[in-house]
Amino acid sequence: MEFLEVIRKRKTTNGPFLETPVSKEHQHLLMEAASRAPSHFNSQPWRFVLIENAATRQRIAELGGASMERLIAEGKFFERYRPYFRFSEEEMEERRDGILIDQLPGPLRPFTRQIMSPRALGLLRTLRVPQLLGEDNRKLVAGSPLLLAALLDKAEYRPGELSGFYSLLGLGMAIENIWLTTVELGMGIQFVSTPMEVPEAWAEIKRLLEVPETLELMAVYRLGYLPPEKPRPRIDWKSSHRKRIGQYVFRESCKTPEGEA
Ligand SMILES: Cc1cc2nc3c(=O)[nH]c(=O)nc-3n(C[C@H](O)[C@H](O)[C@H](O)COP(=O)(O)O)c2cc1C
Repeated sequence: MEFLEVIRKRKTTNGPFLETPVSKEHQHLLMEAASRAPSHFNSQPWRFVLIENAATRQRIAELGGASMERLIAEGKFFERYRPYFRFSEEEMEERRDGILIDQLPGPLRPFTRQIMSPRALGLLRTLRVPQLLGEDNRKLVAGSPLLLAALLDKAEYRPGELSGFYSLLGLGMAIENIWLTTVELGMGIQFVSTPMEVPEAWAEIKRLLEVPETLELMAVYRLGYLPPEKPRPRIDWKSSHRKRIGQYVFRESCKTPEGEA
């Protein structure tokens, strides 16, 4: 595939993957792509764990689903992330950032806009939305043939110091290389982030992966091959919009937004 086409096609996969295991060859290509990222003084502070064991994937899926259910039920999820939610194409067209919630089960549709308000929490609980989202999330993670944990070497990752910042930049670039390579390989990838927000869940994942004191667990992803048909989850969003160039690029100083070519 053309390089720019790969960049333009890179996206987050919200839906299921095929059950087919990811070939060792492809796993190693993803890891090679990660290792080709730049890092300060070529320190390569990233480490990865490839997780195929069914019991481990199942347990991480349970932790992800339960964390999602808890975050939604307690109202923390919408409270934290409200600024990023868009509810109409018009709103999305104007802001051109955030995520557009464009798929909701029938009974919820009339309440689309109220969903984020603290008052709506009771309604969400009555409609069992936390359980629904938790269960969807659990299934998506459990049905992913490959989970990938990204870690940093604590000798380099020292939060608050420049090397901590550099390590984060390096890991971000390594993950982007993996993400881009999934496009070339007909695969998809999604961040499994909810367990990070529940300290006990995160601690259990560290135990499952036997993360030593010398490493920091930074993120977990689910990966797999994309199915030809892409059924959408019951509650779903899209985020393919991007800001116009003048909304994020300036010419010579921060005072002059860049014009369209
Ligand atoms: C730091 C970071 C955290 C993210 N967290 C999540 C997440 O928790 N769940 C998820 O599905 N996507 C997550 N994403 C993916 C973004 O939602 C996604 O990249 C963005 O909406 C743009 O969509 P695209 O990747 O399809 O272009 C995250 C991305 C980044 C860089």
